[in-house]
Amino acid sequence: MEQWTKKHILGIKDLSRDEIETVFNLAASFKEISQREVKKVPALRGKTVLNLFFENSTRTRTSFELAAKRLSGDVVNFSVSTSSLAKEESIIDTIKNLETYHPDIMIIRIESSTSLHTLTKYTQASIVNAGDGRNEHPTQALLDMFTVKEVRGNVENLNVLIVGDIMHSRVARSNIFGFQRFGGKVTVCGPSTLIPYEFQNLGVKISYDFDKAIEDADVVIMLRIQKERQTSCFFPTMREYLDRFALTPERLRRAKKDVIIMHPGPINWDIEISSSLKEQVHPLILKQAENGLAVRMAVLYLVGTQKRELVEVE
Ligand code: CP
Repeated sequence: MEQWTKKHILGIKDLSRDEIETVFNLAASFKEISQREVKKVPALRGKTVLNLFFENSTRTRTSFELAAKRLSGDVVNFSVSTSSLAKEESIIDTIKNLETYHPDIMIIRIESSTSLHTLTKYTQASIVNAGDGRNEHPTQALLDMFTVKEVRGNVENLNVLIVGDIMHSRVARSNIFGFQRFGGKVTVCGPSTLIPYEFQNLGVKISYDFDKAIEDADVVIMLRIQKERQTSCFFPTMREYLDRFALTPERLRRAKKDVIIMHPGPINWDIEISSSLKEQVHPLILKQAENGLAVRMAVLYLVGTQKRELVEVE
């Protein structure tokens, strides 16, 4: 790819295969910086990065903050509980106020699935989606694919199985778009009440039988049961969910020998994955978190160093 042209990173849906590969190549070189004694390069010196989390986060928030700092950006962290949002200031008014500081990048996690495009009208800054409602979590899919590429040496033409709470998952949607860009065949699997009809339109296979679906998978992405987004009871009991959709040693024995097991975190052990598999699967899941830092450095570098044209804001 010659030049990065995307001002915002709102979803994997908007990224070409070339653009995703550009992120991978940069991330691979940024990983080395974290091994140095002085873990810093001047790429974003003089740039202001706002880390705006309207929803809780551990991995995404801390890795974006660290990524911006390792690139020498000036980072301001913002969370709902300590902001005037707690005094009912609207998100648009919040963005308009923060825009007066002339930030270069706004990293935003938000509960609504439709707000980020709207928010681009109120700022000159690049917006990077850190997870928007049930829509997308682009940097999670980028770090997932980057991790698969690191382990297997390639990310092309894979059978990818995504298991669990598909309905509420932005991680599922971003990974579907991402792996499909590289010729992947994606199957989603979970209780029928947690797989909405619209997923049929995304070109994925739907399965309700984890035992069968795991047999062909090269990559299995286990999803978190998102109790905070569930407004009704989608399965009778946790016991039943565990019986049918948890990754257990018995199920894992049905999989290919070199299957890659991932989870975006946070994990509910003994609900999504049996804790007896911890030693076997946790190291790679932690590798995903480690790679999140390098991938987010790459994303911030790409949007933060491109030539900027002033646009009208509302
Ligand atoms: N995977 C992920 O988005 O984790 P956090 O909610 O901790 O950021």
